[in-house]
Amino acid sequence: MEESDLKNLPGVGPATATKLKNAGFTTAEAISVTPPKEISEKTGIGFNTVLSIVNGARETLGIDFMTAEDLWKKRQDMLRCTIGSENLNQLMGGGIETQAMTELIGEYGVGKTQICLSLCVRVQQPVENGGLAGKVVYIDTEGTFIPERVFQIAETLGLDPHETLANIFLARAYNSSHQELLTEHLFKFCPENNVKLVVVDSMIGHFRGEYVGRENLSERQQKLNSQLHKLLRLTEAYNIAVVITNQVQANPTAFFGDPNKPAGGNVMAHASTHRVYLRKGGKGTRIATVIDSPYLPEEKARFKITEGGVEDAGEE
Ligand code: GTP
Ligand code: MG
Repeated sequence: MEESDLKNLPGVGPATATKLKNAGFTTAEAISVTPPKEISEKTGIGFNTVLSIVNGARETLGIDFMTAEDLWKKRQDMLRCTIGSENLNQLMGGGIETQAMTELIGEYGVGKTQICLSLCVRVQQPVENGGLAGKVVYIDTEGTFIPERVFQIAETLGLDPHETLANIFLARAYNSSHQELLTEHLFKFCPENNVKLVVVDSMIGHFRGEYVGRENLSERQQKLNSQLHKLLRLTEAYNIAVVITNQVQANPTAFFGDPNKPAGGNVMAHASTHRVYLRKGGKGTRIATVIDSPYLPEEKARFKITEGGVEDAGEE
């Protein structure tokens, strides 16, 4: 919806439309899913006015109450992007889903970034080839996006590497509040640029670095939570896939088995739709397990990192 369309919303005149637009609220979808308090603070429009604008946007979109049948229909629009490994696709119910946030968890060097880079290429493919026929936003918090690697993956898959790179919008986030700002910008940027995949690699790095110590934990979790929910709203508003990466931390209460657990605590666990835990197997293979998914079974998939991105791996 363009700015001119915003003016068609009940209670939105040209001046209000401009205020909304300047604050990054350019579509009825973005307005309908953002907490009114936040819109009011960012636009300077009075809270009660915002409330009626939000209600108007929701009515226009017809999203306040929907029947379960409507929800079922909406979920039929859900698309799945191939990851490159059939084992991984199967594990994920067919691929990385839109209308969902997928979290890749694992220790350093396990392949989280590699999966993200591979998805950046795959997602641009037509739907019949397992892609989402869309572009990519890559929020890079650690400076680990390597264009040469994307070039190599595209070339190996027989795609035009230059065109592939041109369809990836990079944003280097320098700290957690910059990351927040970029996240907010997505509500405007994604629909305008046909973005179908948003990667945040890593979601938690800056938060862990900036909020050190117990006394800062609750503030950290609150900020992290707010950012995660914005990403979730984005997936729903525009039928987008969001993929975030997460690190592991030592779990002092583990007596046996894996001594690591995902960082980010309950906030992270609850926000992600699907959590995929990655670990190293023998002979350079990687093993993925789904944890805490609402409908995917907790199975294992074996894959490896190759020139073309990610591929199936057999038994060790
Ligand atoms: P952190 O970001 O440090 O937490 O790790 P990560 O999970 O993101 O790891 P990443 O995705 O960077 O994986 C690095 C691993 O991928 C390396 O150990 C390599 O084994 C592998 N890798 C990277 N590039 C290539 C490549 O071009 N070919 C192959 N075969 N493997 C690669
Ligand atoms: Mg990485």
